Amino acid sequence: MRHDFDTVLDRRHTHSLKWDHCRDTFGLDDVIPMWVADMDFAAPPEVVAAIERRAAHGAYGYVSVPESFWESAIAWLERRHQWTVNRRWLQRAPGVVPALSLCVNAFTAPGDGVVVQTPVYYPFFHAIEKNGRRIVRNPLLANGGTFRMDLADLVRKIDDRTRMLILCSPHNPVGRVWTRPELEALGELCVRRDLVVLSDEIHMDLTLPGHTHVPLATISPELSERTVTCVAPSKTFNVAGLSMSLIVSGNSELLARYESQFDAAGLEIANLFGTVALEVAYRSGAEWLDQLLEYLAANVDFAERFIRERIPALRFIRPEGTYLALIDCRGLGMPQKELDDFFLRTARVYFDSGPWFGEEATGFERINLACPRATLAEALQRIERAIRGR
Ligand SMILES: Cc1ncc(COP(=O)(O)O)c(C=O)c1O
Repeated sequence: MRHDFDTVLDRRHTHSLKWDHCRDTFGLDDVIPMWVADMDFAAPPEVVAAIERRAAHGAYGYVSVPESFWESAIAWLERRHQWTVNRRWLQRAPGVVPALSLCVNAFTAPGDGVVVQTPVYYPFFHAIEKNGRRIVRNPLLANGGTFRMDLADLVRKIDDRTRMLILCSPHNPVGRVWTRPELEALGELCVRRDLVVLSDEIHMDLTLPGHTHVPLATISPELSERTVTCVAPSKTFNVAGLSMSLIVSGNSELLARYESQFDAAGLEIANLFGTVALEVAYRSGAEWLDQLLEYLAANVDFAERFIRERIPALRFIRPEGTYLALIDCRGLGMPQKELDDFFLRTARVYFDSGPWFGEEATGFERINLACPRATLAEALQRIERAIRGR
């Protein structure tokens, strides 16, 4: 079956964070939102049908999570990522963002240092600081249009109270799919310096042609022992509003520490529709995902070509994975506030502002490319007109 990613789904006035934010916050009703990371596509038809079936039942009481839920996740990780995980390695989380905070509390003590590789998904900062830990910044090195890790800087930054590193793999917002040698080098350092690694792999299924995601925990048994990985169907199948993600760790002691935080926070009961969605998406969503990835790759090509040919003041940083990309806007010579306002109020397109991810991304904006081609074309045309009209 061919899936349709071209039809524009009207998401306005649906309490969509992405689509209704500009109206609610800025009073602007005609802005194309290309910010928060969800997609303007319906979830796979099997997922929609399963939720409709469950919704039609009418009784939405407490659920117990069936064995088939776990089996579906285990089979997905095996088939898609050649990662053999055991049922005892898995636990639930009501989202990766809450899992980050639970893990910070589980694996570090107040005042401890936690490493992040900036610019990076900004809830990492909140998970560390709002739980009374210290951010240790290990900025990525930007070289032309690509980013790499700076391990020499990391070695210098780790002190006696640095306990954990939060890895973003694939990386949001720079779009890197870390290679095996890069992960090996990072992993070797984490083993040597005795850091726990919290590996946020929520974008693991979203790689572009020519790039393969390697789960960090598969690199070596030593690394598997100190890694806790977050995975979820939420980005992959556009079910983020259903609050269901998973924690994976081969280290039973780390998992037990996570579970005690999970219990203390009273998270025992799962979200009914999230439970249905995860199981069905992982069991039946592969064909839909393959087609989505083709569509996203074509969107990346389209945006890259459009910006190169028609908006040369901007530079598109081609991602290797995720459906997010940085745009280098420094060629416009505007301070960040002016730049953000220019896109919102003049071009009528809303992005994630680069510095949200760290000061290293000043002069950048992050675009979300997961929309029908017509929406993407309209947004890029708006930007082209606004820049020409300056
Ligand atoms: C790296 C990363 N982690 C976590 C999340 C959000 O996870 P959740 O919706 O499961 O809390 C996102 C969403 O953009 C993300 O990019």
